[in-house]
Parts: sequence; structure tokens; C-alpha cells
Amino acid sequence: MLLSTISVAQPSLLPLPAEMHWGQGRLPLNKPLKLQLDAVADPAVRAAAQRLLTRLQGPAEPTAGPVLQIRYGRVSLPEKFDEERYSLRVTPMGVSIDAPTSLGVLRALATLEQLPRTEKKQRYLPEVDIRDQPRFAWRGLLLDAARHFMPVAVIKRNLDGMAAVKLNVLHWHLTDDQGFRIESKVFPRLQTAGSTDGLYYTQAEVREVLAYAAARGIRVVPEFDIPSHSTSWIVAYPRLKSADSTYAPYKLWRTTNVAIDPTRETTYTFLDSLFTEMTALFPDPYFHVGGDENDGRNWRRTPRIVAYMRAQGMVKADGKTVDKHQLHTYFNRRVLAMLQKRGKIMIGWDEILGPDLPRETVIQSWRGKKTLNDAAKLGHPVLLSSGYYLDLNYSAASSYAADPLPPDTPLTTAEQRLVLGGEAAMWAEFADSTILESRIWPRAAAVAERLWSPQAATQDVPDMYRRLTLVSAELETLGLRHRRAPELLLKQLAGSSNIAPLRTLAEVLEPVKEYKRHFQGYTYTTETRYNRLVDAAPAESEVARRFGTLVDSVVAFKPTSPNWLPASARQLAALRAQALRWQANDVVLQPMLTSNPSLTEYAPLSTKLAAVATMVLERLTQLQTGQAPTPAWLAAARTALDAAQAPAGQAELAVVKAARKLAGL
Ligand code: ACM
Repeated sequence: MLLSTISVAQPSLLPLPAEMHWGQGRLPLNKPLKLQLDAVADPAVRAAAQRLLTRLQGPAEPTAGPVLQIRYGRVSLPEKFDEERYSLRVTPMGVSIDAPTSLGVLRALATLEQLPRTEKKQRYLPEVDIRDQPRFAWRGLLLDAARHFMPVAVIKRNLDGMAAVKLNVLHWHLTDDQGFRIESKVFPRLQTAGSTDGLYYTQAEVREVLAYAAARGIRVVPEFDIPSHSTSWIVAYPRLKSADSTYAPYKLWRTTNVAIDPTRETTYTFLDSLFTEMTALFPDPYFHVGGDENDGRNWRRTPRIVAYMRAQGMVKADGKTVDKHQLHTYFNRRVLAMLQKRGKIMIGWDEILGPDLPRETVIQSWRGKKTLNDAAKLGHPVLLSSGYYLDLNYSAASSYAADPLPPDTPLTTAEQRLVLGGEAAMWAEFADSTILESRIWPRAAAVAERLWSPQAATQDVPDMYRRLTLVSAELETLGLRHRRAPELLLKQLAGSSNIAPLRTLAEVLEPVKEYKRHFQGYTYTTETRYNRLVDAAPAESEVARRFGTLVDSVVAFKPTSPNWLPASARQLAALRAQALRWQANDVVLQPMLTSNPSLTEYAPLSTKLAAVATMVLERLTQLQTGQAPTPAWLAAARTALDAAQAPAGQAELAVVKAARKLAGL
């Protein structure tokens, strides 16, 4: 007997399925499930099912017991963009998965992985009937292996994370100013000379990643970012350069606006050879050529290139000023022809959009929603990344709010069909391979849900966070290191001291938002190590978020209501306990911070956290005794909170906003 969604315990699933109906029965997991699958099944499906069964119940090979029956219509390769629809049914007798394609089975297994519950030490699967399919076909994660090289093991762990939340496109940013991270056999200096560290993926390693991704139903789209972001190319092969300068491997993070020369035929000969090699290596039909952040200065300052632009009539409406965008479009058209010859579909960042760009080029929007809509209106397939930049350290809620097709989309039905989906993006200027995962997970899962689940079913932000916490734990069991790596870093920093006080501070810190780390008097280069307290701080503080939720529930109550105190007692007590912990923490932590040179820069934040805690305690007393704050108290609170907002060591206290709210400021 199946019941409707609401009556049963809250689901743990993320992303939420399109349709689910919960029953009252259970399938106990005390006996191993027996896999029932066609003998000739796709090896990827068999392997995925076996991985799941091992995690569910250990490696036992049962001969009898409840059955996990898997049926599907046809084997699909992820790059075919095939259907991912599936149904998954759990009854007290067993589990059945049905899907038109093997891809659908992989998605069903990811759902099944999130279903087990535990009650009185008994694990079981709740009875449920799920019918599911994605809202968008393209649900990506961009990994930047150019700024910091990310070893194959790191890529694989992230692929496991992606599969768990049904992300299906790895956008592999392989080249940038600071490095060319993939082996070219034709132009080997690219990978050996282009970076300061000389790290790159061999072609064998690339194939290994492709196979690992394909086995999880994930497509891999490589990005070769040109014509700008290309210092590494020019260092290796100076014949590609525009300006008459000499270049060394680039060690800083700020954009260079160095660009390769689009006016020489030798540039196209080079690209043609390179892309012959690279398009053969990557099976996906999509091929990303970047195109972002080329301000054209390299071209405008080179007389030879300016003369070319004039000769070709590449000038603005005034008839005089050369127009770098026209030259960029000319370049794109040449590259597009090269890729089309090899059966590839070109993708570029939104800067490449212009009236003369052929419509089949996919536009990836990063500078704002407007470029997504503009491109779709011009007839381009589009991807949304604006709002999904994980490296900006915004909250999961803010990414969740970004919808490629919100109810008020200005796009017509036909234009909406051009919206392929979107991609979370993890640029790696401020993340090395050790802390990378903590900057991606679990927030990328919120993007995954936004792109998979029905719009109408995904309005409840607190519930998203509840499930995000569960997914975060799931990811840890899958081997991701988003929790372990920061914890290890804290251990290193604490040395022989007790780690707990340092953790209490780190838990309420976040790195400064956006790209402010560039502008706070600390110089980052490719040689900087990411082993300071700011690197162990979460991108989004869970402790601060919970503090904020408590504050919200307390201020939502009118202190004039007769049942205010009893109703808020639990929240008030929790807030008080939290504030007392922060206050006491500073006493213990301050000596460690001031005596350890690698932590000293964070001493002011501990002091300020204690000051915020003191203010919070005073405010709680006011609330509980019905006293209104005096103007003098309010002024002092404001001063303390303003001071607490100032970052130190490129980290900031994440609790200030909620404390302000509690103070009524
Ligand atoms: C970009 O963030 N420059 C695409």
C-alpha cells in the first residue's frame, strides 16, 4: 500500500526525484541483496551495481535472499546524451530498477545508495516507488587543473562525487596562463615548458579518467582556453604570440590578457595539428575553446595586427577604431571550422557571443544571467555557470537560487529548448589538490539538484540543507576528502596542541568572498602553499548557518506574545550555550595563536568572536528579562560587530550577520 509523499519520514534523497511515493513497508538489509541482471549486461552497469552492493552490505555473494533486479533497454554511451530516465521500486520483497538505457540504471543506483535508513541498529530500505528523470540534460562540474594540477586520483574522487548526485559532465579546464596540463605528442613543449612545475596528464592517464567517467555515466568535455589565457602556450611555442615580448612561465593568478596571434596562418596550422590530436583523444562531441577575458590589448598594441584588422575592415562603427571582437570572431570561425571537420561542437565562454558567431556554437554564461538569455535569443545552445562559481565561496543557497529557467524567464518555449543546463565551476587559483574537494563539496550538490530536480519541488531551502548534510556524509564514505583534508590541515597547524579550540574558530570562519583574496596585501603565486587557517575554513560555515537559523527562529517570535519564552526556550538555550563556547574558546586559543607564527594573523578573529559572543549573551539576557536595549548598548554592539566584520588572513567571521540580526541592528 503506497502513501503520498508527505506522510512518511523525510526523504534523504538529493537531488530530489521527479516523483516518489512512499509506502509503509521495509526491506531489511540484514540479508545481502542478490543481483539479477542480464548475463550480457553492460560492464559499467554490473560494476556500478556491485560497488553499491558492497557498500550496502559488504562483499557477500548471496545465493538466496531478496533480489535487486535491474532491467534496461539498451546500452548507452554518456556522450550520446541518451535518456537518463528510470524507475526504482523498493518493496519488502526486493528492489527493481527499470530504465530505457544503461545510463538510467546508473542514476537509479545513485538514488538507491541514498535510501538506506537505520532504526534501532537495523538498516533497511523504505518501501518506495520512484519515477525520475532530469530537468536538464547537461549538469556539469568544471575542474580547473591548470592553475593547480589535480592528480588523477583527485579527479576520480570528484567523479565519484558527481555520480552520487547525478552530475553528468566533467568540464576539464586543462590549459591556462599558468600551465598546459595534458600531454601533446605533437607539441610536447606545451606540457613540459608551459608551467613552473611541469605537471601534466599523460595521454594514458587521460584515457584512464575517460574510462572511469564513462563507467559512471559522466561525459568529459576538455577545455583548451584560447586565444587569451594562453601564456603557457606562448612560453612553449613563441611563434604563437601576438606582442613582440618574451614570456616566461606565469606565476601569478591575475589575468594576463596575453593572447595568441589570430592573424598568422601558422597559428591555424598549429591549432589544426593540436586539435587533430586532442579531438581524437576525447570521444565527447563537445569541445571547449574558452575565449574568456581577452581584452584585446595584445592585439591593439601590435602594429602588425592592427594593420591586419584595418585591412580586413575590422573596425567599429566610427570606421576608425579597430574592433578586437571582430578579430576574435574571425578566430572563432576558423577554429569552429577546424572542429566541425572533426565532428565536434564548439563551446565558448559568453565573451565570444556576437552577431557573426555561427549559431551552432554553444555559449557558456558566466558573467551574468543576461548573457544566457541573449545567446539563446540569438539561437545558440546555452549553459549557465553564472551563480554556480564555487570558488567565489558563496552559499549553497545562493547557487540553489540560480535557475537557468526561472518561472519568469524571458525566453520563449523554443528558446528554452536551447538551454542545455549548467555547470558548477571550481577555478583553482586558491585551491590546491589537497583542499580542492572542500571547496567543491557539498555545495556542488545544491547545483546538481537545481539542474536535475523539478523546479516546483525545489523551493525549500532548509530542507535542501538538511539533505546536503546527509549527502556530505555519503560523499565522505565514497572516499571524498572534503571533511578530512581541512581536519588534517588543522591538526598540522595545531601541532602538539589540542586541536579543538582551533577547530571551534575555524568552523565559524569562511574565506573572503569573490576574488577578494587578490586584494588584501597577501601575494599569491603558483608557489604559494595553501596551508593556512583560511584554507581549513569551510567555504560555507555550517556552524554559522545553524546559528543563523536559531537566531531567525528567535527573532521571528514576538516577545510580546504570552508564550514567547516557553516557545523559544530551547533556541535561546542553544544560542547561549554556543555563545559561551565561543567566549571561553578565546581564552584557550589566544596563547596558541599568538605563539605560533603560522597562526598569529588569525588572533584578532578569535578576539572578535569572543566580543560577538559577549554581545550575544547580553542580548539574550535582555530578551529573557524583557529589557529593551539602551542606546548606549546598541552603539557599543554596533561598534563590536563592525569590527568583527573585518577580515584577517583572508578569512572572515561568518556569524556577524546573524549576530546583527539578533541585536536588532
Ligand atoms: C571565466 O571565469 N573567466 C570563464
